[in-house]
Amino acid sequence: MTDPNLRVLISSERIQARIRELGEQISRDYPEGPLHFICILKGATFFMTDLARAMKRDVYVDFMGISTYGKGKTSSGEVKVTKDLDISLEGANVLVVEDIVDSGVTLNYLLHMLQQRKPRSLRIAALLDKPERRLRPVSVSYVGFQIPDEFVVGYGLDYGEKYRNLDDVCVLEP
Ligand code: PRP
Repeated sequence: MTDPNLRVLISSERIQARIRELGEQISRDYPEGPLHFICILKGATFFMTDLARAMKRDVYVDFMGISTYGKGKTSSGEVKVTKDLDISLEGANVLVVEDIVDSGVTLNYLLHMLQQRKPRSLRIAALLDKPERRLRPVSVSYVGFQIPDEFVVGYGLDYGEKYRNLDDVCVLEP
């Protein structure tokens, strides 16, 4: 797919190599029992499936839908759960899997909510991190790539639902 508005920021090869590293690191960090992945719809589905396959251990997967209003513009963005989990988190080692952390509003809210479900542990893995944009503090245990404040699409990330199925992460030029 050639699109003059797209500039490759992180190639598919680099993404897949980094995911293999993350899979090995996370597998080492959780030596026992299954690990529960919570994938935040929709963008993280691509990262989640590749990361799950890079893991050298049992992984359970579940999905959560979130909608945010005023996201990225104010720190008071309202967050609503549109699809809740099927599996109980009580006593589980839980890893929230995200495609990108931007303002941090979504994950800041989500982490507080998930803590109330009494997991044994709760951490975040994000493929991309835009630290310059942070409005709310979020501690991300596993980061694929830190990126500058540019609008990116591909590998799950969209612009008006387009571009999610690109293999590379690309900057959408204005
Ligand atoms: C993206 C991303 C995170 C959130 C991060 O989702 O997947 O959930 O934004 O932004 P924040 O740190 O500013 O809260 P988006 O709302 O674009 O939904 P999508 O994954 O369905 O495209």
